[in-house]
Amino acid sequence: MFNPMGFPVKREERFEMSAIPDSASVGVPPRNMVFDHEAGEKRLPFFDGNVLTNMMFVVFSGVFPDGERFFLDSVRAFRAGIEDPTLKARVSGFIGQEALHSREHERLNKVFTERGITVGVAERMIGGALAVLRRMPKRQQLAATIFMEHFTAVLAEQWLTDKRFHATTEPEAMKLWLWHAVEELEHKSVAYDVFDAIGGTRAERAEGAAVVMTVVIPTLFAAWAIVFAREARIGDLRGHLHGLGILFGRGGFLTGVFRRLPSFLRRRFHPNDHDTTALEAAWREKLFGDAGLLNDEFRNKAALAA
Ligand SMILES: [Fe+2]
Ligand SMILES: [Fe+2]
Repeated sequence: MFNPMGFPVKREERFEMSAIPDSASVGVPPRNMVFDHEAGEKRLPFFDGNVLTNMMFVVFSGVFPDGERFFLDSVRAFRAGIEDPTLKARVSGFIGQEALHSREHERLNKVFTERGITVGVAERMIGGALAVLRRMPKRQQLAATIFMEHFTAVLAEQWLTDKRFHATTEPEAMKLWLWHAVEELEHKSVAYDVFDAIGGTRAERAEGAAVVMTVVIPTLFAAWAIVFAREARIGDLRGHLHGLGILFGRGGFLTGVFRRLPSFLRRRFHPNDHDTTALEAAWREKLFGDAGLLNDEFRNKAALAA
């Protein structure tokens, strides 16, 4: 089977290709982006080449393929019971977007591996962590997913707005992260609305967050420590402290992300309470508008617009 641009369609993608017009019309279009991951520096392209921060990005990319498959599986498990056609279409878009993120990060991870970066450590470790989550009841898996979607939505905002990230990162290497970030914001409330539609409770939400905080997040940091230890020159203390400051210092890349996670536990939390529509629109224009930065990589633009 081929998509409208003539590219082979595999696994999860097959299912949503038929639903593309619907998902696009409800604001969650699965953009089939194919990046040239061989182009440009791929070892240390972020934050002026700081090893510690770059390895965090390697770990993010390492955990995404399996992570996003977990997200889409946990939402898909409830798809058949959804009656609202708009939510159904948003679910199709969500599944399509996550499947394509998964595929592109997988392609990037292959390039990391070819260049000698041990991203496989992160891939294997997250596989183990998610195997634990997959043993939980489907409702709990969905609750864990909505917390991880909250995490990725907050992270996505950081990717789009962090001034130091934009000023010190190679433009070519940023492309995939900017596309991924925009789509994370476009679909940030989909899994939550499915959870709401099945009568998910605040207690289940809290349980989902607890599982992620005790199983997934420590795995992510452990993978980071291992990959970092393999890649870094031990003597470069100054550089490592600088990297820590970039991530966790005042105004650091991840400082604000972790500060915003607890809002998920609020009684009346909804992902759209924090309005990102203007940010999304601005970046959509910049990336996919008439003079969009990513139009060359955007293989199904015409099909989505039809
Ligand atoms: Fe994603
Ligand atoms: Fe997502």
